[in-house]
Amino acid sequence: MKIIRTVIELQTRLKEMHLSPVGFVPTMGALHEGHLSLAQSAVQQCPVVVLSIFVNPTQFNDKNDLKNYPRTPDSDLELLKKVLRETDLVFTPDIKEIYPEEDKREFHFGNLDNVMEALHRPGHFNGVAQVVSRLFEIVKPDIAIFGLKDFQQLAVIKALVKQTGNKVKIIGNPIIRENDGLAMSSRNRLLDPVIRYHAAIIYKTISAITLMIKNYNIAEIKSFVRDSISNVPGFKVEYFEIVDDIDLIPLSTKDEMRKDKRYFGCIAVVAGKIRLIDNIEIGLV
Ligand code: PAF
Repeated sequence: MKIIRTVIELQTRLKEMHLSPVGFVPTMGALHEGHLSLAQSAVQQCPVVVLSIFVNPTQFNDKNDLKNYPRTPDSDLELLKKVLRETDLVFTPDIKEIYPEEDKREFHFGNLDNVMEALHRPGHFNGVAQVVSRLFEIVKPDIAIFGLKDFQQLAVIKALVKQTGNKVKIIGNPIIRENDGLAMSSRNRLLDPVIRYHAAIIYKTISAITLMIKNYNIAEIKSFVRDSISNVPGFKVEYFEIVDDIDLIPLSTKDEMRKDKRYFGCIAVVAGKIRLIDNIEIGLV
């Protein structure tokens, strides 16, 4: 694989190689097996893959979160050697390459701006839309692969692509989990060891809902989720919603479920000082 730092170098290389489809995996580094599975799936589908590593400041609504976001450039490159080929490109731009001037664009995503992550991280998805649209403009991928752990982000990116008329195919890949079920995340390495041990409760709880949905109503399920997780010292549920996968409209009753839609239980938990998200598909009843 080749490490590329500038837009001009990246575009020149892609032009010289003249391979298609071009696969793209955007990341913020601190890579783990979840990212590697995205890269692997891009490699299987595309003769050339671009994987970007860029910690995008515009998507952090909390300055401390940006400061503390893990950065592990050496181990990232070591890990990527396991999956990327000689022809693949690792794009590690500095901020001026992505934002030669301040990005003042504002994006609107309808209901996606009014639920879950959007309510708890104001401005976050605007920043994601800024960087992803900019990266798409630079890389011009045919296929872009994202993790389903960031469920609302995937819906936002699909909406962004629809709005801008970009032809890139957006693929959401399954969540990769640790042995105890915790969804892999760059933030897991920031967890205090005791909190990390107990963090398995998140997946255990949301897994139980896939069975509970048959016999309990939405209000009962929500209070089960809150109690099960908030009873663990240091854990607080920020939100739990069951939503459809397109507009992410939260269900208030099971009668609102439609056969032509898929539903996911989505959760955000503050575990010690770290915020974790996860989700699981809930079958129709
Ligand atoms: O999911 C992420 O790591 C980031 O939000 C993304 C898509 C790379 C944009 O910075």
